[in-house]
Amino acid sequence: MCGIVGYTGALEAAPILLDGLKKLEYRGYDSAGIAVLGKDGIEVSKVSGRIENLVEKTEGGRLLPGNAGIGHTRWATHGAPTDVNAHPHVSNDGRFAVVHNGIIENYIDLRDELIKNGYASISETDTEVIVHLIEMYYAGDIKRAVIKASSRLSGSYALGVVCTDAPHSVFVARERSPLILGVGLGENYFASDVTALVSHTRNAIYLDDDEFAELTPDSITVFNCAGQPVEKSVSRIAWDIQAAEKGGYEHFMLKEIVEQPRAVKAAIAPRIKDGEVVLEGAEMSKEYLSGISKIVITACGSAYYAGCAGRFAIEKLCRVPVKTDLASELRYDDPLIDEKTLLIVLSQSGETADTIAALREGQKRGAKTLAIVNVVGSTIAKAADYTLYTYAGPEIAVATTKGYTTQLAVLYLFALYAAKKMGRIDKERYDSLLSSLQAMPRRIQEAVDMNPNIPALAKKYHKSRSVFFMGRNTDYSVALEGALKMKEISYLHAEAYAAGELKHGTIALIEDKQPVVALCCNDRITEKTMSNIVEVKARGAEVLALTYRENKKMVALADDTMFIPLVETLLSAIVEIVPLQLLAYYVAKENGCDIDKPKNLAKSVTVE
Ligand code: M6R
Repeated sequence: MCGIVGYTGALEAAPILLDGLKKLEYRGYDSAGIAVLGKDGIEVSKVSGRIENLVEKTEGGRLLPGNAGIGHTRWATHGAPTDVNAHPHVSNDGRFAVVHNGIIENYIDLRDELIKNGYASISETDTEVIVHLIEMYYAGDIKRAVIKASSRLSGSYALGVVCTDAPHSVFVARERSPLILGVGLGENYFASDVTALVSHTRNAIYLDDDEFAELTPDSITVFNCAGQPVEKSVSRIAWDIQAAEKGGYEHFMLKEIVEQPRAVKAAIAPRIKDGEVVLEGAEMSKEYLSGISKIVITACGSAYYAGCAGRFAIEKLCRVPVKTDLASELRYDDPLIDEKTLLIVLSQSGETADTIAALREGQKRGAKTLAIVNVVGSTIAKAADYTLYTYAGPEIAVATTKGYTTQLAVLYLFALYAAKKMGRIDKERYDSLLSSLQAMPRRIQEAVDMNPNIPALAKKYHKSRSVFFMGRNTDYSVALEGALKMKEISYLHAEAYAAGELKHGTIALIEDKQPVVALCCNDRITEKTMSNIVEVKARGAEVLALTYRENKKMVALADDTMFIPLVETLLSAIVEIVPLQLLAYYVAKENGCDIDKPKNLAKSVTVE
């Protein structure tokens, strides 16, 4: 939710800020703005709509000359996406400007207090109180004013602040929202994530909660809430510039779909050594694993669905009960989590507010936590007891694809690792599943290659008002994610059902030409799903089956088909999802949707 950037150096700040905002646009894209410290004070430009509007309004930044500044791209929480509500917000005396990612929960009380003290608010945002607080506490020491203002805030924030009294400095503060400093030569940067930094520098400092910094062209000083300096190490950013570019593809989403063989290989290959799964960062002893009474997997959205699909492998192989819980629900449910529970937390961004809260709830109740995360140095990655990175590289499209499949890959690795440690899998089965897993990058590639008809299927089905997805067992878990993909990028109503459940109510909605995507890749229950297909067809549904070419009966029964290669059922979700991602993509394309930036969504959901 929202992206912030900042720059100080010898170059013109505005074009750099605009470029950084474009890289962060996936985090929020309903309005944007920049503030530059110019000759005559702070110059601000902000617009509702996309960054392109801001580029146009500022003539590529030329209208705001100056060498230090801050920028913001917004996903509105408090107040509509208007020019006035867009950031940066400026203090009444014009001395300070602030950009903010996060939510200030006590902003109403603070606003009342500020109004009583004579500070006028002009926007409906929670953010504006911050800049007025800084002005109120300013008595010549900017650092002190930022610290004091921050101490009054409840909620989450990553802040960027500029002040006319320090024309070459930008100030930042962090509490439960990501903030990374980019270390350059004669110039320094900050941003909400590394994608906005990699074209300038590979050297980064990850700020922690309750830390502040002042950036000048030649120095970065990190300090704590007492104003005392904090030693920070500089990390190397591993992601390359191309990874965050479209590379000739029309959309990031398509690029990320076809990148999946490589991404899944990056998640798996370094973790298999001499025929064994090795989980550096999550080594667990036999004693610990054998003492676990249950595993709870928690996450939001697609990450949750990855957990639903991965659950089967862990439970079947480890013979431990595995429960999946939505992270947005977990802490309101007095969950049965204790020191004998292993809590697995899945998150591409590592910053999802509800997932962070679920992780903390688990830790409070004594559980050990294992995070499976893509973004290095993210809050979840740092907070968990064990962390396994998915190594998917930057995922820019708001709808996740390689984020989901790499999460699954790591869950499968963990299932094999834990089962072996606990002595619950024999060598033959272990070896066979491990070689199936190693073959998954190839199988995913085959799933991309063997479905050239998907654009044509999208042409046939894109005008439907709704699409049902159905399957049983592992197929059902994939149906959930397939339906979410369809909803979020094509805006078609899409629902997933456990195939046997349809006739308990939803079948009432089946009418002539209603598309039903039937997942049928689980041999054990093929016949059962086929019966459900016959039932919906009898009521006029058009069935688009996802199955194996070898499943001749299914191919004959369905109106249309998409295929996956033959794979081990327990691990099939990682391949099965690929044609469904492509289907959603091409339906959205037919419907002229903004595929990489679907309406109302943001990539990283940092509010609860
Ligand atoms: O960054 P996370 O994996 O924690 O994000 C969780 C969900 O917000 C995310 O998966 C969301 O459902 C995506 N829009 C799915 O495409």
